[in-house]
Amino acid sequence: MLNIDLSGRRALVAGVADDAGYGFAIAKALAEAGASIVVGTWPPALNIFLNLLERGKMDESRRMPGGGMLEFEKIYPLDAAYDTLADAPEELRASKRYKDVGDFSIEGLAARLASDFGEHPVDIVVHSLANGPEVKKRSSRRAVRATSPRSASVRIHSCRWSAGWRRSCAPATPSSRSATWRASA
Ligand SMILES: NC(=O)c1ccc[n+]([C@@H]2O[C@H](COP(=O)([O-])OP(=O)(O)OC[C@H]3O[C@@H](n4cnc5c(N)ncnc54)[C@H](O)[C@@H]3O)[C@@H](O)[C@H]2O)c1
Repeated sequence: MLNIDLSGRRALVAGVADDAGYGFAIAKALAEAGASIVVGTWPPALNIFLNLLERGKMDESRRMPGGGMLEFEKIYPLDAAYDTLADAPEELRASKRYKDVGDFSIEGLAARLASDFGEHPVDIVVHSLANGPEVKKRSSRRAVRATSPRSASVRIHSCRWSAGWRRSCAPATPSSRSATWRASA
């Protein structure tokens, strides 16, 4: 267990879609330390993740040593390959796994966080993305950005969780099933 009190803090973990990856384990450790947890989930994996949660398939993994369960305050769709929705190809935006989730870009996530939690939505940002296109195509700058800290973590930080950050992030805030889902529901 982390020897730190994170009560009253909120952590965003980007890259959680099951209970197997580092992201889930980090989220659980942060929750054990008292933080509330929101996650960013890759749209193609989103429904599977939500279904597994709703059906209790992750209940054992969510059980915390000190009692209680790991709860996700929010689960947001996130494809960190795209800084803005306009960066995503039309074909992808119209595809089955993406078309109904709203703005899945980093900018969209930032806007949703601001809408849900105000001007200082998170205290901790964890980048735990993997399996991005750079694994297959190391020479592409965009591919590297897709899972590099610059994309998910630094870019989000660059939105500045401060009074002026909204000016550098899109204000649009579409709602979605995932944005309102709670593990405790
Ligand atoms: N597994 C290891 O041995 C290991 C070792 C050292 C470092 N790491 C690093 O730890 C991090 C997590 O690794 P893991 O083993 O938990 O991987 P994982 O595959 O279990 O989890 C990665 C998550 O990233 C998500 N993801 C992939 N592309 C995305 C995108 N474009 N937008 C949003 N989400 C996306 C996937 O859906 C998945 O939920 C990675 O950065 C990895 O490089 C892993």
